[in-house]
Amino acid sequence: MSGVNEIRSTFLDFFARNGHEMVASGPLVPRNDPTLMFTSAGMVPFKNVFTGLEKRPYVRATTAQKCVRAGGKHNDLDNVGYTSRHHTFFEMLGNFSFGDYFKERAIELAWTLVTKDFALAKDRLVVTVYAEDDEAHRLWKKIAGLSDDRIIRIATSDNFWAMGDSGPCGPCSEIFFDHGDKIFGGPPGSADEDGDRFVEIWNLVFMQYDQVDGVRVPLPRPSIDTGMGLERVAAVLQGVHSNYEIDLFRALIRASEEATGVGSTAETAASHRIIADHLRASSFLIADGVLPSNEGRGYVVRRIMRRAMRHAHLLGAKDPLLHRLVPALVREMGQAYPELVRAQSLITETLLLEETRFRRTLSRGLILLDEASADLTSGDRIDGETVFKLYDTYGFPYDLTEDALRSRGIGVDRDGFETAMARQRAEARANWAGSGESAAETVWFGVRDRVGATDFLGYSTETAAGAVMAIVTDGAEVTRLETGAAGILVLNQTPFYGESGGQVGDTGVITGPNGRFRVTDTQKKTDGVFVHIGTVEEGTIAVGDGVDLVVDGDRRGRIRGNHSATHLLHEALRQVLGTHVAQKGSMVSADRLRFDFSHTKPVSDAELEAAEEIANAIVLQDAPVTTRLMAVDDAIASGAMALFGEKYGDEVRVVAMGTATEGDKAGKAYSVELCGGTHVGRTGEIGLVRVVQEAAVAAGVRRIEALTGAAARRHLAEQERRLKDVAGVLKVPVGEAAARVQSLVDERRKLERDLVEARKKLAMSAGAGEAPREIAGMQFLGRIAEGVAPKDLKNLVETARKKLASGVVAMVGVSEDGKAGIVVGITADLAGKLDAVDLVRVAADVLGGKGGGGRPDIAQAGGPDGAKANDALEAIAARLGELAAA
Ligand code: ALA
Repeated sequence: MSGVNEIRSTFLDFFARNGHEMVASGPLVPRNDPTLMFTSAGMVPFKNVFTGLEKRPYVRATTAQKCVRAGGKHNDLDNVGYTSRHHTFFEMLGNFSFGDYFKERAIELAWTLVTKDFALAKDRLVVTVYAEDDEAHRLWKKIAGLSDDRIIRIATSDNFWAMGDSGPCGPCSEIFFDHGDKIFGGPPGSADEDGDRFVEIWNLVFMQYDQVDGVRVPLPRPSIDTGMGLERVAAVLQGVHSNYEIDLFRALIRASEEATGVGSTAETAASHRIIADHLRASSFLIADGVLPSNEGRGYVVRRIMRRAMRHAHLLGAKDPLLHRLVPALVREMGQAYPELVRAQSLITETLLLEETRFRRTLSRGLILLDEASADLTSGDRIDGETVFKLYDTYGFPYDLTEDALRSRGIGVDRDGFETAMARQRAEARANWAGSGESAAETVWFGVRDRVGATDFLGYSTETAAGAVMAIVTDGAEVTRLETGAAGILVLNQTPFYGESGGQVGDTGVITGPNGRFRVTDTQKKTDGVFVHIGTVEEGTIAVGDGVDLVVDGDRRGRIRGNHSATHLLHEALRQVLGTHVAQKGSMVSADRLRFDFSHTKPVSDAELEAAEEIANAIVLQDAPVTTRLMAVDDAIASGAMALFGEKYGDEVRVVAMGTATEGDKAGKAYSVELCGGTHVGRTGEIGLVRVVQEAAVAAGVRRIEALTGAAARRHLAEQERRLKDVAGVLKVPVGEAAARVQSLVDERRKLERDLVEARKKLAMSAGAGEAPREIAGMQFLGRIAEGVAPKDLKNLVETARKKLASGVVAMVGVSEDGKAGIVVGITADLAGKLDAVDLVRVAADVLGGKGGGGRPDIAQAGGPDGAKANDALEAIAARLGELAAA
């Protein structure tokens, strides 16, 4: 047994055999702890299990945990490459007892593994115990049979282990390996202990307390946490002195030597070591979702990457190097950490992008650095302004400059650097203050300066722990909020999505030690500060509180489906309507999605159906949705759809989904868009896409609204129910409903026609027996024809007029809505004596109408008051009387 992979499995198998649950490594970004930047020890994922907050179905566990010690409380970055045992990334092997076994069993197990399974000689081992821990001293003597001089009491904090300023802690006992007297150094506790001869390989922590606000509270039950650095123990087992000589690192360094064509010599060894170490840290961090940025964790990974990239440059690499080493890393570690295989292309692309960008300014920065430091010698310090300029203009992180000057013994003026940095922030703030934003909004600048941008964790999780960094209410900062108070919380990190790119902000709950805050909206303020808007539902929320953040996952799930469906429809509309279709706006909420796009005419039902069909075909592919980080120009060059006029950072997230099956994109990604939103993992999660509305919103801009998943299904079910209701009323199967309705409509038309005819006949025959009245020697026939349309009146009047010898016919037709039409006809012999137009106007007056027109022998008019039909006829009769009398 010698390879790192075998050593790891020997350890895990040993503890599994001894009743421990083999648990996969937790992520490098701790989900359960706001105080830690990265997972820095094996116990971190179990922190809440030790304190009793969390229950697991086992009381003993064993892990190989990925750890990063860079950028946080534990920071080894500066030393990496120049020592035998410092790493930014390493693996910690551990066994844990959660209130199960304690010191005795822990020591027994450790001793058996080290001396039997690892077969280390007893006389090469010494152990330390905490000075006051007589019990541990006695147990080592009893179990290992070590003599007193090999059980060393240490009084310092070296033998009291704490995760951080708060959290589980306890006295510890360490096992050291003696590399032999060829190497300088003394046993632990001696004056020469810092030498390299005695190397700590395993730390057994007897967890007894939880440190809360500086006070040690006993844990519910004493527990065990152990940590064995895999790289260190591999060095011991492989008989080498430096961690960088173990098989795993030899393979990575060999890859670096081959890729650069430069072997390891006294001069170049540190560079190769730094490249190998930083390759591991960057790759594992990227695989866990930490992508390079200028803030928080993202900035740590950028620093690590750029430091390695400068060393690649130092070795003479002409082109980006790091991404070419990824296959070697995946070969060595991919089996133990499948996430590395899954993320391989993301890692490769991210490294290539970062190195390509950094190389553009690297040489120019180095020239500036050389010039600025030409007159400096060992012991001098370079001024902060230059370091700031390197940072600001050339992208040199502070520690890269430090590293670059290290070999010449030159230091860096950190204070000067910080001052220059603060000055730049103040200038940005002044510019911003002059931009006309409201005074209430300026509060965010102070918050931003003090707290920094919020680390957004929501691409990979919907729950996390965080710390309350600021509270704002009514445009001013406060230190606490009481029950019922509305306000805004700013945290160091958050899984809550802040409204942007058309996607609404998340809602959910933030729970602190003394209260609960209901988040009703999340927004983004200046420079990446996420603000959680809501109300304290119970108790108090105060600045400094450690809080649990829980996004309303059901709502977020629906938002994700709607956002991904928006991308699918965007592409589908381009396929159906043409590539002139460009996004003009969108709104993605939990209930529906809205998508506005350029198109000059209405989208027909057939086109909408075709687009829906295409989008749903991609849903059915159940294809993975992938996200990559790219330079904007590269992303657009690669065909990603970007929003015209939108401001993007230097780097953008590129979201791709599905496989095109037709056209020149066949076989390639179906949809590729620049997008910072949250999406489903696979298209199948969308379930169903259903367009429910199409309309115009502006000249040349159409809007569609669509539903997905359960909402789409409910919409379809409701439509079907309505159809069934219709069929039910018609008493036919659903499939025959349309034909049945058509025949009903036809029938109705025919009946209407028949009715009109019947009414005409009725109107005529009604008057058949009725004799005209005599008015001053003239015959007058006045009649009301219910339901007869005005256009039909004329015929009736003409027919009736023929039957009169000499006289006047007036007919009022009253339609179903109560309106009246009137036609007046005069027999030929009366021409010159009477005027039909004059008579019809008299009637129109009564009917509430105006005017009337026609010829002197026949004229028509109308009016709204059908009820006054009879009065209208009487008015004509009266007029005739008047005329005769005149
Ligand atoms: N948690 C202990 C350590 O990190 C084992 O050393």
